[in-house]
Amino acid sequence: MSSPLITTILLLSSILLHSSTQVSSQTATLFSPIRKDESTNLYTMLIYLKTPLQPSQLHLDVGSYLPWYDCARHYKSSSYQPVIYNSSLCINLDTKVYGNCFDKPGPGCSNDTCSYFPENPVTRKGGMGELLTDKFSLTVAKNPAQLGPVSEIVLSCTTPNKYSRIYRGLAKGSTGLASLGRFNYSLSAQISRGSSSLWIFTLCLPSLSNASGIVLFNSPKIDVSNSLIYTPLILGPRGADTQSFYWYKSPDYYIGLTSFKVNGKLVLLNQTLLAIDELGLGGTKISTSKPYTVLQSSIFTALADAFVKESGKLNFTLVNPVEPFSVCYAAEKIPITRVGPAFPAIDLVLQGKEVFWRIYGSNSMVRIKNEGVDAWCLGFMDGGLNTRTSIVIGGHQLEDNLLEFDLERERLGFSSSLLLRGTTCADFDFKTT
Ligand SMILES: *[C@@H]1O[C@H](CO)[C@@H](O)[C@H](O)[C@H]1NC(C)=O
Ligand SMILES: *[C@@H]1O[C@H](CO)[C@@H](O)[C@H](O)[C@H]1NC(C)=O
Ligand SMILES: *[C@@H]1O[C@H](CO)[C@@H](O)[C@H](O)[C@H]1NC(C)=O
Ligand SMILES: *[C@@H]1O[C@H](CO)[C@@H](O)[C@H](O)[C@H]1NC(C)=O
Ligand SMILES: *[C@@H]1O[C@H](CO)[C@@H](O)[C@H](O)[C@H]1NC(C)=O
Ligand SMILES: *[C@@H]1O[C@H](CO)[C@@H](O)[C@H](O)[C@H]1NC(C)=O
Repeated sequence: MSSPLITTILLLSSILLHSSTQVSSQTATLFSPIRKDESTNLYTMLIYLKTPLQPSQLHLDVGSYLPWYDCARHYKSSSYQPVIYNSSLCINLDTKVYGNCFDKPGPGCSNDTCSYFPENPVTRKGGMGELLTDKFSLTVAKNPAQLGPVSEIVLSCTTPNKYSRIYRGLAKGSTGLASLGRFNYSLSAQISRGSSSLWIFTLCLPSLSNASGIVLFNSPKIDVSNSLIYTPLILGPRGADTQSFYWYKSPDYYIGLTSFKVNGKLVLLNQTLLAIDELGLGGTKISTSKPYTVLQSSIFTALADAFVKESGKLNFTLVNPVEPFSVCYAAEKIPITRVGPAFPAIDLVLQGKEVFWRIYGSNSMVRIKNEGVDAWCLGFMDGGLNTRTSIVIGGHQLEDNLLEFDLERERLGFSSSLLLRGTTCADFDFKTT
């Protein structure tokens, strides 16, 4: 019977109460602010790296293997160590590439090292990099001014002088990649293992570039059972979009979407496209490297048709679409609610008809306001007929939603829009407890 606001306070304080019951500083909940870059509509998170520790913004990607970093420009650290090709770390990583370097020795250039192909998750361009370990830290959730314990991380050092294309397309200001994927040496796995904590992290993307979101590591389980809805994470059988690491399992977070509902009405979809086959084709995954959800053509058409039909019942006026979108409405007469413009809700129906992720106007629609145009456009994209993954849920649909990636129980917890509870991702205030 609690009001939305009380639910929010319960949700937030349960995170904090649990973190304060943990005695050892080794398992303190760690925190990184997330920024949204206006030029790409993608996100960066802040880490502290090297000795002395220096802040760096990294492009945030939930579906990548190993973190990587720009070592050509100003990598100065007294603590970095190349990863030698026959070390146990290199053997565990199983990158299958080793190398020598004939430039000036330094970070990213040494002999007999374990190498790795870093990959840009936006453009899928690859490069070469040598592995190194260095000191790493994040701030403590309860006191964002304080750094947490310093641990070691392994990352791939790229030299963008030679391979500069690898940086193009990432969120502006990124000096590397914060990979939070389902991989033993992703940043999230390394942080949790480094603090002997469960491999669980919580993500809340901001919707504005002037507000910051959060990612919490070692985040205690949220126990308020009705705060989050859970759906199983599905492990894709084959590697990511490129073939660089075909012997690794997919780092992506797939979920079992079975259909959409628009205004409560079922939208029938081709079930073959929703399943993941043995080559890793099909299915539904989450990506923070796509600004908007991308759908295979037949799925896009089915959703857009249903959406137009249901919005038509509200007498909303269609206008000429504004690139890159294909369905837009005149904004003037559309009422604004606390969860955005009053368009029909879109539900992502999951493992049962009663388990769905509701997407309101704030997450489904994009406001376009320029040169005499004022429109709300459906923020879903047609990815063409031959998509590798049939549904890629992108950033706009995730903003101001709390997502808990629980790798221990292989499940994803989601809150739906926090706006419904009168809060946003920018409103986490850890100092109040
Ligand atoms: C690594 O290889 C070098 C040269 O081949 C060898 O001297 C060294 O003992 C090896 N180290 C390990 C840990 O196998
Ligand atoms: C690696 O070894 C080669 C020859 O064995 C040498 O020319 C080169 O300078 C070395 N590179 C580094 C970075 O030490
Ligand atoms: C993950 O890494 C840990 C620590 O290096 C290792 O014990 C474990 O076997 C690895 N698991 C997989 C699936 O590679
Ligand atoms: C951020 O920008 C939005 C609109 O662009 C504005 O309404 C809001 O007040 C700004 N917030 C802050 C904290 O500056
Ligand atoms: C469903 O998708 C599969 C894979 O693209 C395709 O082969 C099949 O013809 C589609 N079925 C229908 C009924 O459109
Ligand atoms: C839409 O317009 C029709 C015809 O003008 C009217 O009968 C109907 O009540 C309107 N519906 C809404 C939801 O405004």
